[in-house]
Amino acid sequence: MSDGSKTTLRLVAGPAGLATASDILRSGGLVAFPTETVYGLGAGARSAEAVAGIYAAKTRPRFNPLIAHVESLEAAEAEGRFGPDARALARAFWPGSLTLVVPIAPGCRICDLARAGLDSVALRVPSHPVARALLAAAGLPVAAPSANRSGRVSPTTADHVLRDLDGRIDAILDGGRTAVGVESTIVACLDEPVLLRPGGVTREAIEAVLGRRLAEPRSDGPTVAPGMLLSHYAPRAAVRLDAVALAPGEAGLDFGGRFVGQGARATLDLSPRADLAEAAANLFGFLRRLDDALGGSGCIAVAPIPGAGLGEAIADRLARAAAPR
Ligand code: TXA
Ligand code: MG
Repeated sequence: MSDGSKTTLRLVAGPAGLATASDILRSGGLVAFPTETVYGLGAGARSAEAVAGIYAAKTRPRFNPLIAHVESLEAAEAEGRFGPDARALARAFWPGSLTLVVPIAPGCRICDLARAGLDSVALRVPSHPVARALLAAAGLPVAAPSANRSGRVSPTTADHVLRDLDGRIDAILDGGRTAVGVESTIVACLDEPVLLRPGGVTREAIEAVLGRRLAEPRSDGPTVAPGMLLSHYAPRAAVRLDAVALAPGEAGLDFGGRFVGQGARATLDLSPRADLAEAAANLFGFLRRLDDALGGSGCIAVAPIPGAGLGEAIADRLARAAAPR
């Protein structure tokens, strides 16, 4: 499916593909690439023109700031000011699925558009080997939101990306299926560390490093992530949470085998052995498959999922998928 004017190159994540991808980024183009969480849609973060291409391809509201992906803590410190809390979290979880929002450094060269005009910047050092190789080859911070159309389910395979963005971006680096499956955890370290978005690193692990509890975002405060729109991650079907029994015609998104024997139209179990990491990795792909099985209407019933650890990120994404649109 192609509804844009570009020819999107599908690149193998080897030396030649990485060289092509980094050339495209350096000349202001758009490249989707795998991270350990979800696929990102990347553009050189120093160029407002390049970053504008991301918003256009995703049809994303402009006020929504983006994460800048960098190679190392050292590269991050050129863009943002790291106090003791931010530095401790970076040392503990980078490279990995944690994003830190920090005040901009005096020499920050992440463009205004990528920061949506804020005087803070969201930074992440991803751990996926293809993402790391791309950042090293490009030698640039890369702004990248998830590589889906705005409001749609985040992509965990190259095929998911192409279904939303084929013809709208210059290339995709295919690195197979992503391992974590939900986006990074976002912590703002502007004063007291605040959890802005639950994600791949658990609240419990972060609080263990900080030695204290994370603060809750204030709904009126400047630290709330502007991208946390309530209806997000939306399949076309309706989503019903905490379902114990399936209604006729519903598809089932199961956890731990609760819907076994209920004879649904289609059922997928996020983790038959009730493992939250496995469930997170399957979440977005299974939502897409059930949505397709229903033909884009009807309802997906979701079994209850425990809320601790990675369950917090899963519950957050499912609540958004189920929110009124
Ligand atoms: O796992 C991930 O984080 C993926 C991969 C590609 O890295 N990226 C991702 O980006 O999920 P995105 O754009 O979908 O989400 C970025 C979130 C948004 O909710 C945005 O509002 C928030 O980060 N954000 C970015 N800069 C911020 C800032 N300066 N202050 C507060 N929130 C910020
Ligand atoms: Mg997203």
